[in-house]
Amino acid sequence: MRESKPATIENRWDILYVEYPEVYDAFVSVPKQPQMVEVLKSHFDLKEKLILDIGSGAGDSSFQLSTISKRVIGLELEDHMRRIAERKAIDLNMTNVTFIKGTALDIRLPDQTVDASVAITLPLFLEDEIRTYIREAMRVTKTGGYVINLGIAPFCYGGDLAETILGDAKVTEEDTEGVVDRILRDEFGFAYFDYEAVQTYASAEHMISTYGFIFGQRAIDEIRKTGRKHVMWTYRVHYLVK
Ligand SMILES: C[S@@+](CC[C@H](N)C(=O)[O-])C[C@H]1O[C@@H](n2cnc3c(N)ncnc32)[C@H](O)[C@@H]1O
Repeated sequence: MRESKPATIENRWDILYVEYPEVYDAFVSVPKQPQMVEVLKSHFDLKEKLILDIGSGAGDSSFQLSTISKRVIGLELEDHMRRIAERKAIDLNMTNVTFIKGTALDIRLPDQTVDASVAITLPLFLEDEIRTYIREAMRVTKTGGYVINLGIAPFCYGGDLAETILGDAKVTEEDTEGVVDRILRDEFGFAYFDYEAVQTYASAEHMISTYGFIFGQRAIDEIRKTGRKHVMWTYRVHYLVK
């Protein structure tokens, strides 16, 4: 741990997951409307299913998924994140969720183990890693089961503050087809849909200490200037029936 906490980690997610997992947990716990599970529930029948949640982080996605399924296994690489999830599972008495250590690139489960593999904002961006993760997700999913990848839409890094955060590096309208889209659709035959969700913080200061801490000084300046306390996110859900 660093000697003193900075005002922001300027988009360094690697630092976030290892040194400030509690900030990620606070950020992801801020309610969104609609909630991710409401959207998944309206598109996929996950009732009575065993779900593998790939990249389960501090547990938020696994806990949400456990409310619409039978049981969830959360797979997470970072010990610091997984420990928060394990502690919360005990505190919340979530008996149908377990967490295992591991990587999406080499899932230590036998073939055809789960009814659905779901990844919620799993941060893989290298082409070969995306292919390996999808092959692994398909391998451990039973025939007829779902493989679902929910991510931030390519033009929406940081939600509707993308332009402020990225400045000149902003992904343009012409370049909204990200690498995940191309590989999942063209190589693996996934379908997809987008949806929007509004995340509402308790106050502008609350947004600065969580969202601003992660997304950087430009975001913090904008929140201070406007007093805003909400973010609109566009999510992209890729899915396939195996
Ligand atoms: C943006 S967080 C999402 C967490 C969770 N799905 C949620 O919605 O709250 C991404 C998580 O994926 C984990 N991760 C990154 N690469 C991974 C990999 N190769 N295998 C498993 N987990 C990974 C990170 O450590 C982090 O906890």
